[in-house]
Amino acid sequence: MTIQELNSRLDSILKDVPDKEFDKICLMEDLCGITREMLATHPEKELTEAAANSAVKGARRRAAGYPLQYILGSWEFYGRRFKVGDGVLIPRPDTETLIDETVSRLGKDFHGGILDLCSGSGCIAVTLAKELEESSVYAVELSSEAFPYLVENVRANGADVKLLKGDVMNGSLLENFRISGSAQDEDGEYLDIGCIVSNPPYLTDKEMDKLQKEVTFEPELALYGGSDGLKFYRVIACLWKELLAKDGLMIFETGTEQAEDVKKILSDSGFTDIFTANDATGGVRVVGGYLKDQ
Ligand SMILES: C[S@@+](CC[C@H](N)C(=O)[O-])C[C@H]1O[C@@H](n2cnc3c(N)ncnc32)[C@H](O)[C@@H]1O
Repeated sequence: MTIQELNSRLDSILKDVPDKEFDKICLMEDLCGITREMLATHPEKELTEAAANSAVKGARRRAAGYPLQYILGSWEFYGRRFKVGDGVLIPRPDTETLIDETVSRLGKDFHGGILDLCSGSGCIAVTLAKELEESSVYAVELSSEAFPYLVENVRANGADVKLLKGDVMNGSLLENFRISGSAQDEDGEYLDIGCIVSNPPYLTDKEMDKLQKEVTFEPELALYGGSDGLKFYRVIACLWKELLAKDGLMIFETGTEQAEDVKKILSDSGFTDIFTANDATGGVRVVGGYLKDQ
């Protein structure tokens, strides 16, 4: 099959996919190494059977609603590549707002501990470890399917992140950290946890009932936040604040309708100077606050 023939074949398979042109180019580029330029300048070039089959198979899966990111096997977040696939949430552009806000609030020379709860692919933990080079980042994830992606993404990005597999809803996990705003690193040194960051599962019952087709392929464990979508915020704010150093920052990604509820949860848990930040579409996407009296 030539490049041009593959192009026509993918056009026909993807005809009902909303972003078909973008998806086609990604499939051709990532699965066959064909760039836009090659398509324009060498349409007659023959492809190996394996390369053509891989793109055709990928396009068929895409046409059936399977997420493009899972087919490609990796996705970009904050300028870095993250391996993704069945069992792990695909990093979203909205989550870059959480990174921007965390980095700007902590400052580039922040050298305390950062705890990323519900870490998934590790996009938050890895990005913060790379952007805030003096910090010590810890990541906690429960899912046995997601955890290997976390391990691999930390390794592939050369990030210094300490990993913990466990349930953030279970208080006994806190015993892995010293209660009093510190955590022990590999050398037995105690570090201040100056920031707890989380993008927890936050979809409500109603939202789970009307998921976009692609999202139904992502793990329910990564999406469902209890009937009102708020159960993780309640537990994290109330339980995990014990680890925060004085003046420590707790910062969450939220659904666009959840900001007021999460502000109240933080304030009821003793946080002050509560703030929000908007994503690129103008909706509130980040809520955080500081723990002054610790
Ligand atoms: C919304 S996803 C966020 C993933 C990643 N931080 C991101 O921003 O793309 C939530 C993550 O929390 C994990 N999770 C769900 N329940 C958990 C629990 N009780 N303890 C720890 N992690 C949990 C899920 O497996 C999933 O990876």
